[in-house]
Amino acid sequence: MEAIALDHLSFSYDGENPVLKNLSLTIPKGSYTAIVGHNGSGKSTLAKLIIGLLEPGAGQIKVLGQTLSDENLSQVRDHVGIVFQNPDNQFIGSTVADDIAFGLENHCVPTEDMQAMIEESAAKVGMSAYLDAEPTNLSGGQKQRVAIAGILAMAPDIIIFDESTSMLDPQGKASVNAQIRKLNQEKNITILSITHDMEEASQAEQVVVLDQGEVAAVGRPEDVFMNEELMSRLRLELPFALKAAKAFQKAGLNVSPVLSTEALVEELCPSK
Ligand SMILES: Nc1ncnc2c1ncn2[C@@H]1O[C@H](COP(=O)(O)OP(=O)(O)O)[C@@H](O)[C@H]1O
Ligand SMILES: [Mg+2]
Repeated sequence: MEAIALDHLSFSYDGENPVLKNLSLTIPKGSYTAIVGHNGSGKSTLAKLIIGLLEPGAGQIKVLGQTLSDENLSQVRDHVGIVFQNPDNQFIGSTVADDIAFGLENHCVPTEDMQAMIEESAAKVGMSAYLDAEPTNLSGGQKQRVAIAGILAMAPDIIIFDESTSMLDPQGKASVNAQIRKLNQEKNITILSITHDMEEASQAEQVVVLDQGEVAAVGRPEDVFMNEELMSRLRLELPFALKAAKAFQKAGLNVSPVLSTEALVEELCPSK
């Protein structure tokens, strides 16, 4: 079954300028999909439609087999978690621990289990030392970590990350991304990650390229990123390893195009 099925979806904020145009897309259950595309291509709008914060102008949205409607919206939202782009808009608790607890309370987790779950998910994002801190006093990156911890604790069936690690340094990004992949692999949670981080996108199972409200490409990362015509036409950045491999090729070295740093190292210094 599909986790999310979008069928000829269109949307406009002002009734004039289309932001999403006749967009169809399926996100398989248990998959890890990355959505990439320039600012303004409609990525966040798409996320808001999927969780029913916006209503489509035309077309249908199915989440876990149910067509979104006013009647089933709250029921569907029990299964979908989202971490927004701007972490300032999503704090409710007066301490980090309260904030992580909020989602759990809403999901009727017994109080005696809650403390352990809060501590576990704070540890996963490196925020164990901040459980008593006030969210407003945290840095942007720390706020993003807490917002992610809240979702990790709830572990809903589908999680949408909308540029949720944009304020983290490369190491922080890598470690949070590792937690997200783990969630996908070990708990079979469907991940939809909107990202500018091409390293992260190249680790997804499926990459969707949005361009001006339309799906410009969908496919495995290797197929999308190695499509030179597409990548240069949309002026999208390539994952670092691929960029480097191409530079080595240009310099006359016999290096295959690869997506990960590990594969690049293997190309340059084969271990056997
Ligand atoms: N609340 C809003 N009201 C009017 N226009 C909006 C609103 N939010 C976004 N837009 C416009 O919709 C388009 C898509 O925006 P958005 O979905 O945020 O793109 P992305 O997340 O890919 O950067 C942009 O042109 C943006 O200016
Ligand atoms: Mg956005």
